[in-house]
Amino acid sequence: MGNAVADRDLFALSLHAKAIAKEAGKLIFSLRFPAQSEQKDSNQLCIDEKSNSTDLVTTADIASQRLVFDRLRQHCPNDRFIGEEDGKPEPLDNRATWIVDAIDGTTNFVHGLHDFAVCIALAVDKAVAIGVVYNPATDEMFSAVRGYGAFLNDIPISVSSCSLLRDSLVLTEWGYERSELGIDLMLKANRRMLMHGVRGVRQLGSGALDMCYVAMGRAECVVGGIATGDSWSIWDYAAASIVAEEAGAVLRTKEGHSFHIEEDSVICSAPGVIDEMVSVLNPEK
Ligand code: IPD
Repeated sequence: MGNAVADRDLFALSLHAKAIAKEAGKLIFSLRFPAQSEQKDSNQLCIDEKSNSTDLVTTADIASQRLVFDRLRQHCPNDRFIGEEDGKPEPLDNRATWIVDAIDGTTNFVHGLHDFAVCIALAVDKAVAIGVVYNPATDEMFSAVRGYGAFLNDIPISVSSCSLLRDSLVLTEWGYERSELGIDLMLKANRRMLMHGVRGVRQLGSGALDMCYVAMGRAECVVGGIATGDSWSIWDYAAASIVAEEAGAVLRTKEGHSFHIEEDSVICSAPGVIDEMVSVLNPEK
């Protein structure tokens, strides 16, 4: 596929990405919850560690990424592919690039909690053009094509109209940060938000779903990547960032600068509370 992608091609590709996310979602669900699954899979789920003992990868992550890449390659053999299970990628270039998180929320998945998702995004000219985030446990499919709005199970969604942080539910993630300095930074940020009087702060364990929850108004704001070791990666953001933007969310770095999916922090927020959140997190400014 070349870089000049017509809208009709983006729609066709987004339908394809949704079908693949559903297939991969059913596969991982059957591996983790065989008793509740229609599709039985006799393979054993094995768990391994990546960057540290809290950063997990399972055979379901590997199988899901393989399935997604195989299906996408059949359709778009000349595109570039970035996947969480292949490690840190080279920076984005002008090639059409598929960015895949085979399971976002692997720790939840391992522990049997239901917040996890398959994420597929297509970036064209370094900007995300399509995003699909599918949670097989809830059968929720979030999707967006640049310029055409955001959807949950094909029904349009939009962000909360809330204009005050004291009426806001904020989501944040501890990630895999275990250094004293990093933990202090995250505690400080959480302290500032709580002292400011936000309605609640939650840690759900899937950055991609957090952003989709902001997109549909379940929460007003996500704060991610506060400390270096918990930093989010391109596959955590790519698909969900376009869902959030198309639903009306504003995305910034933790310092309040403009956001791009290669950044390592994010504030993803309903427009009415973004400035207040940037000030709360950066009181020195
Ligand atoms: C992780 C989750 C988590 C976030 C981490 C991510 P993974 O993704 O999104 O909430 O805090 O930074 O790496 O490893 O489960 O795909």
